[in-house]
Amino acid sequence: MYVLITCSVLLILLIKYLVHHRNFYILSWKLPGPLALPLIGNSLAFFCNNEDIFQRAVNIISNYPSPMRFWLGHKLTIIFSEPEQASKILSSSNFSDKGEVYRFMKDFDGDGLISGSGPKWKNDRKLMAPLFGKKSVQVYFSVIVHHTNILLEKLEPCTQKGTFNVVKYLHRCTADFVNETIIGEKTDAQNGHFDDFLLAIDRVYDLVHARMVKVWLQIDWIFKMTHFYHQQTQAKNTIHGFLKNVVRINEEKRITKTQLSGTILDNILNIKNQHPNFALGDDLIHHLSTLYSASEDTITTISAFTLLLLGMYPDVQERVVDEIRCVVGDKHDLEICDLSNLPYLDMCIKDVLRLFPIAPFLMRTTRENFQIDQYVIPKGCSVIVSIHNIHRSSKHWEKPDEFYPEHFLPEAVMKRHAHAYLPFSAGPRGCVGKSYAYMALKIMLVLVLRKYVIYAEGKVGDIELKTDITVRPKGRQFPIRIDFRK
Ligand code: HEM
Repeated sequence: MYVLITCSVLLILLIKYLVHHRNFYILSWKLPGPLALPLIGNSLAFFCNNEDIFQRAVNIISNYPSPMRFWLGHKLTIIFSEPEQASKILSSSNFSDKGEVYRFMKDFDGDGLISGSGPKWKNDRKLMAPLFGKKSVQVYFSVIVHHTNILLEKLEPCTQKGTFNVVKYLHRCTADFVNETIIGEKTDAQNGHFDDFLLAIDRVYDLVHARMVKVWLQIDWIFKMTHFYHQQTQAKNTIHGFLKNVVRINEEKRITKTQLSGTILDNILNIKNQHPNFALGDDLIHHLSTLYSASEDTITTISAFTLLLLGMYPDVQERVVDEIRCVVGDKHDLEICDLSNLPYLDMCIKDVLRLFPIAPFLMRTTRENFQIDQYVIPKGCSVIVSIHNIHRSSKHWEKPDEFYPEHFLPEAVMKRHAHAYLPFSAGPRGCVGKSYAYMALKIMLVLVLRKYVIYAEGKVGDIELKTDITVRPKGRQFPIRIDFRK
């Protein structure tokens, strides 16, 4: 009798669930995608080493036309890999809510600009975006030059070392200028004074990614029973502890009217003064931790990829160096106006960002039913725009898997769909830090290439990629050799 009642209740619940989610199933039947099993969907595809998940995802997506469907457990995800469709999604406010997986970032970044959604995000973005305009960030030029000059000194012993992993040096240099210009603190990471924080940040990326791809870690009570939870608490205490201290010091400076330094934190505190409802409680800490990881990790990784590729492609490196010689010449100091006169370096950075888009899969949820081509994407559905697949498609790129800066010659750009290239995303949730990033990347590359010749083995195809939150080579290895430039 009890068995019969239990079975009937379960059957009713199942029918209710299916009726409620019928739009998801109808859409799923219409779309191509790999065979999905009940309950676990296509999750088995990711039952592999963490390092292999990225390549598996890219391969699956390239095997199906766009859009395709993928069931991550019982959750339906629609994946787009055509520029026209990407354009509709990224420009629509219907898709400005971040996907469910961003909730794992919220443990660290709360409702900061990357993981937040809804009216609060909209308001915060409106207030903060102007702080990152092209003119506004130029005031940080000399601080970035200063820390890059320290990097050049730190690299000197590497001329004797043979092959070494350059990312470790770039990571510390970037941490120092990001901290001084954005967070409002001098950290001296390049002299080994910031290691706890750097380790904690790396741990966060691993943890968030593990929860994004391992469905069982998404269940809070299971996650809390694992050692990951303990590591998360420790990392969070280290990061938030540091940031709380920085905020306290900066707030005290304002009370004692010590001269303000014009950092992004200063500017955020100014906004806070003018808008009493902005950055309440832990929001300020969440904005800072978001800005730290959004800027430090991205600039470090892209500068490392660029040096690696310039080492692999010596002809391209020589052209860049010739351009730098022409523009900057032998004058001692780099000037900000030099940065806008380096079109070939620009093309190189752009092709690096194409080959290695830092956020290879952009995730969103739909607010309302939305028609794309012949498909209605139901409200609440998860959507992914695969930037990586768009950037590596032979439909849009002459040499999709090669380092080929000529992809960005003006005539080639004109022929291409504007949304075939989306390294900074686009639309209402596009990157706010693009100008800061370009300025920092150019300063670092010009100064390093003026002093050192870079050598590296292999070609683009030899770089095996993985993601934690952002894309990187497996093992985070960027092996190069350097020598003094004569
Ligand atoms: C090469 C460097 C960079 C690349 C490739 C990059 C790329 C991106 C991408 C693709 C997004 C969208 C992410 C998503 O939709 O999930 C994004 C968002 C964001 N980026 Fe960047 N970024 C870079 C540097 C920076 C820097 C230097 C800053 C800050 C100074 C920054 C701040 C942000 C913020 C705050 C967002 C969230 C915007 C929002 O949703 O309102 N980024 N970035």
